[in-house]
Amino acid sequence: MSTASSLYADHLATLHERAATALERGGFDHLVVPSGTPHVQVFDDREYPYAANPQFKHWLPLTRHPGCWLVVTPGQRPRLVYLQPRDYWHVVPQAPEGEWVEHFDIVVIRRPDEALKHLPRNAGRCAILGEPQSALGRYGAFRPNNPGPVLDYLDYHRAYKTPYEIEMLREATRRGVRAHRSAERAFRAGASEFGIHLAYCQAAGQDTDELPYANIVALNEHAAVLHYTEFDRLPPRPVRSFLLDAGASHAGYACDITRTHAQEPGEFQALIDAVDAAQQRMCDQVRAGTDYRQLHLDAHLALAGVLREAGLVKVSPEEAVATGVSRAFFPHGIGHGLGLQVHDVGGFAASDRGGTIPRPDGHPYLRLTRVLEPGFVVTIEPGIYFIDMLLEELRASPQAGAVDWDRVEALRPYGGIRIEDNVVCTGGDPLNLTREAFAAA
Ligand code: GLY
Ligand code: MN
Ligand code: MN
Repeated sequence: MSTASSLYADHLATLHERAATALERGGFDHLVVPSGTPHVQVFDDREYPYAANPQFKHWLPLTRHPGCWLVVTPGQRPRLVYLQPRDYWHVVPQAPEGEWVEHFDIVVIRRPDEALKHLPRNAGRCAILGEPQSALGRYGAFRPNNPGPVLDYLDYHRAYKTPYEIEMLREATRRGVRAHRSAERAFRAGASEFGIHLAYCQAAGQDTDELPYANIVALNEHAAVLHYTEFDRLPPRPVRSFLLDAGASHAGYACDITRTHAQEPGEFQALIDAVDAAQQRMCDQVRAGTDYRQLHLDAHLALAGVLREAGLVKVSPEEAVATGVSRAFFPHGIGHGLGLQVHDVGGFAASDRGGTIPRPDGHPYLRLTRVLEPGFVVTIEPGIYFIDMLLEELRASPQAGAVDWDRVEALRPYGGIRIEDNVVCTGGDPLNLTREAFAAA
């Protein structure tokens, strides 16, 4: 057996164990997971892009296969009901192939509703994880019930990536880094946001529907919009800065990478360098036992130090954090879990029996509040932005005197900076997949 296939076999063994416990918790006999169903646009016959059910692609690297069903029954080989429609309008999925095939009993069906014959007879004994419209049978008798105790267990444990999953994330990262480098070249050559986006997709070998999230390609002031997903067709004059937050997919797994570039050396590049240095120190804190909330709060202090060094803020970092000044420049969370979803599930899970770990007061956008453990994969994505709306509020507040507004004016045309890596928490030193891939490229 090759290493890759034994990693996959071990991954499945872990998922079987998790499924068995999850079913026990919920009092069910079978885990049943539809891959998902096409969604049709209102008053139209066009479909939205299909997105695979993450509960399904956790088991199988199948991301373009609506209408399939996975059945897991403890002690038995898992069954895959595989839809290969008779259809001459579209390209239909190939016959099942790949290293995963040998691990499943596979039944091929030609119509979505034929799946019903191959699912457990008693829907009441099944934990069915999916969207309502995957329901099958008369009056939707076989309907996703998404039982809380089952989902609580699975979602909590999704944070612990298997070695197979780390490899998939590593591969997604390689692809993303290749595309980032190509996009930077397009930026240096004077391309528009749209042109850079196309260069990115070309180098990633992925279309927008395959990428794990909408590319953020921002020149100049556009970098101040955290999720800027417009693509101007013409480059601005002059071009000053470039923020690229873009990922890639591999076997259903996502990377999530951000880099910021200056057109020329100068004070904006110096600020990028300072954020980059601070970001690498934060990445080094991705260690077992670290409370991710603390990492977020520490990031505020570190970025307030960068703001002070850059002369943007005149008060001490402690005071900038305590008075909320740092939040005007860094108004999002330090990151999130990453895996089958860019913002992975279970970020607030207090235990595998439910419960929520709240965000720190005053930090409404943090997406992960758990204590890190080996196997967690997280993003670390500090930023400093010049966002008109937040700067206006700050300027009208009692804290206005904490800021050097002339310095802010000088840097505002650059929009902002974000630097984002994907980091694996191990039993020892952190493994930074993004830096690893950039170093190898
Ligand atoms: N690309 C979205 C994020 O960084 O969370
Ligand atoms: Mn992110
Ligand atoms: Mn991102």
